[in-house]
Amino acid sequence: MILVTGAAGFIGANFVLGWLSSVGESVLSIDKLTYAGNLENLACLRGDSRHTFAQLDIADSDELLRLLAHHQPRAVVNFAAETHVDRSIDGPDAFIQTNIVGTFRLLESVRNYWIGLEGRAKTEFRFLHVSTDEVYGSLAPDQAAFTETSNYEPNSPYSASKAASDHLVRAWHHTYGFPVLTTNCSNNYGPLQFPEKLVPLVILNALGGKPLPVYGDGLQVRDWLYVGDHCSAIRRILEEGKLGETYNIGGWNEKTNIEIVTAICHILDEIRPRTDGLPYAEQISYVTDRPGHDRRYAVDARKLERELGWRPVETFETGIRKTVQWYLNSPEWIKSVQSGSYRDWVQKQYSDGSDI
Ligand code: NAD
Ligand code: DAU
Repeated sequence: MILVTGAAGFIGANFVLGWLSSVGESVLSIDKLTYAGNLENLACLRGDSRHTFAQLDIADSDELLRLLAHHQPRAVVNFAAETHVDRSIDGPDAFIQTNIVGTFRLLESVRNYWIGLEGRAKTEFRFLHVSTDEVYGSLAPDQAAFTETSNYEPNSPYSASKAASDHLVRAWHHTYGFPVLTTNCSNNYGPLQFPEKLVPLVILNALGGKPLPVYGDGLQVRDWLYVGDHCSAIRRILEEGKLGETYNIGGWNEKTNIEIVTAICHILDEIRPRTDGLPYAEQISYVTDRPGHDRRYAVDARKLERELGWRPVETFETGIRKTVQWYLNSPEWIKSVQSGSYRDWVQKQYSDGSDI
């Protein structure tokens, strides 16, 4: 079996669901269940004997060692992290604790388990650390996309904490020979994403008749990848990636934020028009910019294509349509994530944008 951390979050849950339906090997899912973790994301696995869930902080070494000894996974895929840039600006503590201290404790626990393995169980063991393109900093409009050899220049508390975790993973390989792989991926979108992030926030606010908050001039660029494609890349790297290497994962889909918001509005105009007949774009509202906002990310994923033969399946047009449709079809899930703490965050974050 494999162990997946952060399995109740957006990408972790998509990964576990995709893994069980494509590979079929058993999974031990662990998650601290912070505000971003939602067991509803894994609800369809209730009663599936291939899946086990444990509520656990990656920093809880004792319990982690007990679980590792009991379940004997052949690999660990680490998604567990604090992930929202705006929250990292508002309160960086949790980011330092989970992304840096937590990753360190996870590395040590898993390394201790790995040391005790023998033969093929030891040589074939893998620790895959899921990271982000944000560690590379921000690009000018004419600069080439990030490659695996781009300098680390993180700009937010979130990206700095992820950069630190990447460095720990690298050092554990170099110093202890611990069998690691690191992935640096661009912006994901798709089913099960918590509606603090741009794509689900815009879909839900549009349907709720609320303003669609666009930071600054809305011309910041991100490289968008459908979550199912991110998961397929991780599966490929886990099986065929070269130990100690890092792999960039991207969608070849650079778009400005205002293009993203407008694309969502157009799809909704088509499949769920407003009752007053006006376009959803009427709800767009420019609000105060994010402090230190990175202007552009773009990922050069040619190493992954060249060495492991991976390319994304979805285009932005097919992926965003599937995503909008999923949110339209999932009212119960939406109710389950729009709790009091979600409403408190939205009120605090968008307090200058009246009623967002
Ligand atoms: P998410 O916030 O939806 O999920 C994170 C999960 O980790 C949650 O379920 C949370 O409960 C859990 N968690 C947090 N702290 C924990 C701890 N101390 N111990 C155990 N579990 C803990 O995030 P996501 O978007 O699914 O991101 C998953 C990973 O992918 C992160 O490492 C993130 O940096 C990386 N990533 C995300 C994107 C993206 O666009 N969302 C892009 C590239 C990389
Ligand atoms: O690049 C990968 C990263 O992508 C991941 O590592 C992060 O975990 C993930 O959260 C994401 O970070 P971003 O900051 O790019 O994602 P977010 O959805 O928060 O914002 C996307 C862009 O949209 C960004 O330029 C900020 C802008 N934005 C965001 C929100 C929430 C708005 O204009 N309005 C908003 O209300």
